[in-house]
This record gives sequence, C-alpha cells and structure tokens, in this order.
Amino acid sequence: MIRITGKTRVLGIVGWPVGHSLSPAMHNAAIAALGIDYIYVPFPVDPEHLGPAVEGLRRLGVQGFNVTIPHKSAIIPFLDRVSREAGLCGAVNTVRRDGDLLVGHNTDGAGFLASLREDLGFDPRGAAILVLGAGGAALGAVAALSGAGAARIIVANRTAERGASLVERFRPVFGGVGFSLSSLCPGELAGHLRTIDLLVNTTSVGMNGTRFEDLPLAELRSGGRVYDMVYAPAETPLLAAARERGLTCANGLGMLASQGEAAFSLWTGIEPPAGLMKITLRRELEG
Ligand code: ATR
Repeated sequence: MIRITGKTRVLGIVGWPVGHSLSPAMHNAAIAALGIDYIYVPFPVDPEHLGPAVEGLRRLGVQGFNVTIPHKSAIIPFLDRVSREAGLCGAVNTVRRDGDLLVGHNTDGAGFLASLREDLGFDPRGAAILVLGAGGAALGAVAALSGAGAARIIVANRTAERGASLVERFRPVFGGVGFSLSSLCPGELAGHLRTIDLLVNTTSVGMNGTRFEDLPLAELRSGGRVYDMVYAPAETPLLAAARERGLTCANGLGMLASQGEAAFSLWTGIEPPAGLMKITLRRELEG
C-alpha cells in the first residue's frame, strides 16, 4: 500500500495515449516494496500541449518522469539539458529534476544492453548484428550496440532512406563500427543472416497479428541469437520460429523492465528490488 503524505514526491509518465502504459504498475510496485515516499502517475499529454505541460510539471515540482510515444524527440526543446546518450539518439525517455533544471536522459539503450546480457547472455563487443528497422527504437538500439563495441551493424529497413539516414548519423560518431545497409528482401537478408551473431527486431512487426512474411530465419547460424523488442504478444511469430529452431531468443519485456530500473535509480538514488519490475510486468501482461 502506498501512503500519500504532504511530502510525497511525484513521478510519472508523459505520453499520448498513456492509458495502456505498464510503467505506473512497475514503478509503484518498487515504491511500495521499498516503502519510500513517492508516487508514480500517468500524464496524458496531447502533442499540441507538450510545451505547457512540461512547464506545468516543472512548476508543480514533479521530481521526474518518463516520456513515451509520441514525445520522445519532441520534448527535447522544452528541457534545459540532455545527456550524451539522449543527444546521440535524439530521444529522451526519462527526465530528472536537478534543482530547477529538467534534464533529459535515455535509459532505453542501457535497458536494452542489460536485457541482452541477462536474457540472452549476449555481449555486443566484437559482434556482428542485424537490426530490423530504422525508427526511434532502432536509433536507441544502434547507439547502444555501437557504444558497447559491436564490430559490425547491418541496418535493414523497409524505407531505404530512413535506414541510410540512421547509418549516416552514427558513422562519424562510432568509427570502430562497420555499418552497412540492407533491404528486407529475403535473398539479401539470407546472406546477412549467415554472417551475424544477433538479429534484433526494433519494428512494430509482430504486434497485432503482423509478421515478417519472408524472413529466412533458417539461414541464421545455430549459435545465432534473436531479440524481439515486441513484448505483447510474449511470443511473436519471429520468436516462435526462433524457438522452433532451438535458437536462444528473448522478447522486449526485459528491456522494458531494465529501462524502468535505470530511470527509478536516476530519480530516487535507490535501486529497485532485483527482478520486481519484470515480475510485475509479466503479471500485468498476463492480466
Ligand atoms: P519506433 O519509435 O517504435 O521505432 P517508428 O519511429 O515509427 O517507431 O519506427 C517504426 C519502424 O518499424 C520503422 O523502421 C518502420 O519502417 P519504415 O521506416 O519503412 O516505416 C518499421 N515498420 C513498421 N511497420 C512495418 C512493416 N509492416 N514492415 C516493415 N517495417 C515496418
């Protein structure tokens, strides 16, 4: 049970819509377990009113908040500063109050790397990785993988120009990474799948009954791993195919929990109880 007092510090999530978010459940579970005087609430903010809403959060003394779709990039002009990680991928998922300043961070990258380590036993150092997608989630993933010392990253996107602009953004920053581009054509993907250590899906394909129709997963070598950022459904068609082939694979639940753990620590200075956020998410998803 969370007790609200005159000194309760407020955390929350800014998004539109925000009603589906699992973040209030996982953060409030950690707050309750630790018995600290915080509360985490949803803030539905229409894109038209993002600026005044951020100013309101500042004036109301909110301690920190998460930022989700569609505001992760749009919020940057309304903040006082952003961290190096957030600046690099042009996206903020966590804002912390530092005195009077609102500082933007990005814990998605750290959450992704933590989940690769914990759920797949995978270290990107020296690895070759095929990333499907070139949207906001791909930017965070490619920045994190590059920063963690990946040797080679192939970006395969439906819209070629978007893939190219992602690679052009990171090539000058990460000189040690060999970047290349691919289409989603099965023949081209097959060639890449034979040479990589990890396949990452950053697109929304897999949600709502969608699937990659012609992904030649059989070409992935037997030690290759598969990470799907989608977590609902828990097993996408891509993950089902990977499991059938005996490949080590994981969905995005671990990333969601780990980015939350990192945000929570940034705001409170306290690490949430190990595993609690992930268990809470699983429980919420299973209804
Ligand atoms: P997010 O912030 O979640 O990454 P986004 O920026 O809208 O969302 O990016 C969505 C990504 O999923 C893009 O790479 C998109 O490909 P396009 O750049 O061609 O639009 C990809 N995507 C979405 N639906 C897809 C589909 N049916 N097939 C292939 N790629 C798809």
